[in-house]
Amino acid sequence: MSDWSRGYPAHNAYLDTMQPEISPFRWRTALLAARVSMPSTRRFRFLELGCGSAHTLIALAALYPEADFLGVDFMPELVVRARKLIAEVGLSNIRIEEASFAELADAPCPEQFDYAALHGVWTWVDADTQGEIVAVLGKWLAPGGLAYAGYNCMAGWAAAEPIRQIFRSAPQGDPSAPYTAARLATEQYLALSDNLQLRTLWQRLSQMPDRFLAHEIGATWGGACWHPQIEAALGAAKMGFACPSELSEQFDPLFLEGARLEMVTRGTAEGWTQTARDLAYGRSFRNDLFHRGAPRLSGPEMIDGLRGLRVLGWNRDAGFGPLARLTLRDSPVAEPDIEDSIARAVSDGPSLIGDIVDALVLDPQRALQAVLVQIIKGNLLVIRTDDEIAAARDGARAFNAVGKAHFDARRHVLPCLASPVLGGVVMLPEKLQKIAYGQRDCDALDLDRLSALELTS
Ligand SMILES: C[S@@+](CC[C@H](N)C(=O)[O-])C[C@H]1O[C@@H](n2cnc3c(N)ncnc32)[C@H](O)[C@@H]1O
Repeated sequence: MSDWSRGYPAHNAYLDTMQPEISPFRWRTALLAARVSMPSTRRFRFLELGCGSAHTLIALAALYPEADFLGVDFMPELVVRARKLIAEVGLSNIRIEEASFAELADAPCPEQFDYAALHGVWTWVDADTQGEIVAVLGKWLAPGGLAYAGYNCMAGWAAAEPIRQIFRSAPQGDPSAPYTAARLATEQYLALSDNLQLRTLWQRLSQMPDRFLAHEIGATWGGACWHPQIEAALGAAKMGFACPSELSEQFDPLFLEGARLEMVTRGTAEGWTQTARDLAYGRSFRNDLFHRGAPRLSGPEMIDGLRGLRVLGWNRDAGFGPLARLTLRDSPVAEPDIEDSIARAVSDGPSLIGDIVDALVLDPQRALQAVLVQIIKGNLLVIRTDDEIAAARDGARAFNAVGKAHFDARRHVLPCLASPVLGGVVMLPEKLQKIAYGQRDCDALDLDRLSALELTS
C-alpha cells in the first residue's frame, strides 16, 4: 500500500466495468416520477469522480456530443488507459485528469457541473476521502445539479464483516493468488457459522477472481453504508436525496409482497423508507440520485413530462435493455387486456406516452401507471427524440467500432456497446455481443432488436 493511495488498493487496478445505470437520459423517467427537475439532457457539463479507465464516461461523451465531460482519477495507469480509448474513438468533448479528491478540493473551482457520477467509490474510501468528495461536490456541482452514486448498501453486506476481517488479516502469499489463505480460512469459518446470508454471499464472492476480492472485501476501507449515512454526508454539500436512479425502485408492490411489503409501507409512513426498502430486499448495492437544490415538479409538470416521453415496443425476453433484475409480481394495471392494448399502441413504431394513455380505456392516472409498469417490465423502452438519436449516431458508431476492433483482436474487450437510441450503454450477453460485432450468424429477431437500438456494426 502506498501513501498517496490512503489505503485504496491502488496496487491492484480495478477490473474494468461499465455501468448502464449511468445515463442522464435514463435518469429522466425516474426523476419525473419522483417529481424532481433535472438539467438539460443535451447541453451539460458532466463530472465523474474516481472514473477508473472511464469506459462508461467515454461512451457517454460519444452519445452526448453537445455536452462536456471530465473524468478524474488518481491512478495514473487508469488515466493512460482512458486517454488511449478517447484517442481511439476520436472524441474532443472529454478530458481525463490525474488528481486525488484532496487535490480537487483544494483546486480552484472550474465552471460548475450539471451532473456528477460516483460509482464504486464512496464505500471503498476512508472517511477523510469521503469528506473531500463532499467538498468537491459542494463547490463543483451547480445549483440544481444532480449527482449519481453507486455504492455498497449495508443491508446486504452487514453479515460479511467476519469475512472482511479474515481477508484483511490472513497472510497474502504468492502474488498470483494472494487470497488463498483467506479463502481457506473463510471456508473454515463458514463451517462453524449458521449465518445463511453470509453463506449465500460467499457462494457468489468465492467465484470471483482475487483481483476483484481485493477491492470488494480485502481493501482496508472497503465496506458498505446505509442510505441515511451517505444522505447525511452529502447534506454538507447542500445536497438532498432525489430518488433511486431506476424507475422500478418506485414501484415496490411490483416486487414485494406480504411482510416485506408491509415493512416498506411502515417505513414510508414513519419516514425511514430507504432503510426499510434495503432491509426488505436484502439489497447489497444502491444506485441513487442526489440533487443540489433541484426544484420539485408540480403534479401537472410531472404528468406533462411523463406524457412527453417517447417509448418503443420491446420484449423482456430480448435479454438486454434497461430491465428490472427482480422477479415481477402481478399488478392490477398489468392485466393481459391492458398489456395487449399498450402493445397495439406501439406496434407501428415509437409513440408518446401521452398518446398511449389517451388510447387506453382507463382513468388517466391508472393509464399512466399502466404504461410505467410496462416500462419496468421491459415491454416498453423509453427512447430519445429523432434529433437526439441523429446527433449521437456518429459518436456511437465510432465507439462501437473501437469495441469491435478490440473484440476482433481479442484485446481488452469493452463490456458494453453504446446506444444512440437509449442515450446510454447496453450490456449484452456474449452471444448477442458477437452478433452485434458481426462475428456470428443470428436469427432475424435478435438482429431486429439490436438494430432497433442501433447496436449492430
Ligand atoms: C472501484 S473503482 C471504480 C471505477 C469506476 N468508477 C467504475 O465504476 O468502473 C474506484 C476508483 O476510484 C479511484 N479513487 C479511489 N480513491 C481516490 C482518491 N482519493 N482520489 C481520486 N481517485 C480515487 C480509484 O483509483 C478507482 O479507479
